[in-house]
Amino acid sequence: MTFLFNSDARRGAVFADAFAKELPDLPFAMDAATVDPNAVRYLITWTVPDNLARYRNLEILFSIGAGVDQFRFDAVPAKVKIVRMIEEGIVRMMQEYVTLAVLALHRNLPAYLAQQRAGEWADIAQLQAGSRRIGVLGLGQLGEAVLDRLKPFGFPLAGWSRSPRRMEGVTCHHGKLGLEEMIAASDILICLLPLTEETRGFLNANLFAKLPEGTAIVHTGRGPQLDHEALVAALDSGHLSAAMIDVTDPEPLPPDHPFWSHPKIILTPHVASVTQPASAARAVIDNIRRHRAGLDPIGLVDRSRGY
Ligand code: NDP
Ligand code: OXD
Repeated sequence: MTFLFNSDARRGAVFADAFAKELPDLPFAMDAATVDPNAVRYLITWTVPDNLARYRNLEILFSIGAGVDQFRFDAVPAKVKIVRMIEEGIVRMMQEYVTLAVLALHRNLPAYLAQQRAGEWADIAQLQAGSRRIGVLGLGQLGEAVLDRLKPFGFPLAGWSRSPRRMEGVTCHHGKLGLEEMIAASDILICLLPLTEETRGFLNANLFAKLPEGTAIVHTGRGPQLDHEALVAALDSGHLSAAMIDVTDPEPLPPDHPFWSHPKIILTPHVASVTQPASAARAVIDNIRRHRAGLDPIGLVDRSRGY
């Protein structure tokens, strides 16, 4: 029985230490060339390796990240459990990033940065937090955590998911009607949806048109969810006020892409949240223990939903 780590060596070293301490009976390998493929029961990776079929006895395929859209599910035998990364480091970093973005957009930072570049000293009318409505697309691990972190600021908070959810201090919407209600009442809209066939191209001209005049966007889901041209058009027309974008399609953007220099866009290179090796190793070890005890791992992906 072997655990095969297929990611960067720096994080691998942290995993190796944790496995040696916590699961000494499970051999840990970082070099696929040195292991007997038949012994591999667990594999952690960002993408599905082309030679996955050689691991005939694989039981769990772990994603090193929170998302699993980079996996081709049809390349993974049905008996293999696919498990995404749920760990406190990812959650904390996403809370920080979205809080940074919400406060930057709430306090008109993109406009003040543009004024600074133009040598202009002028105040912009400031809405108070109680009048700035926040809507979060996706009420999963990250959406909920982000809303929780935003609570002390006093923004009216709302979230949207596929199935009904309850969260104290948050107006929870679901389904098609719920989406219409939430986007009509969001002054800052945050996308934390997983990428699936249903959410590809979700942030498009049609959705932007239904947002109130002056809404700002935070996009930390996945690049293919955002229609870049539609965003630029909505910003240029003044319908949307600004955007903080962490994920794009492609990544990185080509040098002539309008996002690089758009005065209403703050762009970051897919860094909102990054798997932290010590806490990630703990989460994976816990999941192996659960699996050995006959329990489902935390973060088990439902292939039919795509997340
Ligand atoms: P979860 O699976 O925990 O939550 C997903 C949420 O989205 C759920 O509330 C789900 O609804 C909702 N949802 C999914 N599809 C639909 C749909 N078609 N209509 C309505 N709601 C839908 O995911 P996480 O919160 O852990 O992560 C979300 C995404 O964040 C990841 O998939 C990844 O793409 C992105 N991410 C980005 C990072 C970055 O650095 N930029 C870092 C980490 C993650 P329901 O509750 O009903 O299931
Ligand atoms: C992830 C990511 O999915 O970094 O973890 O985007």
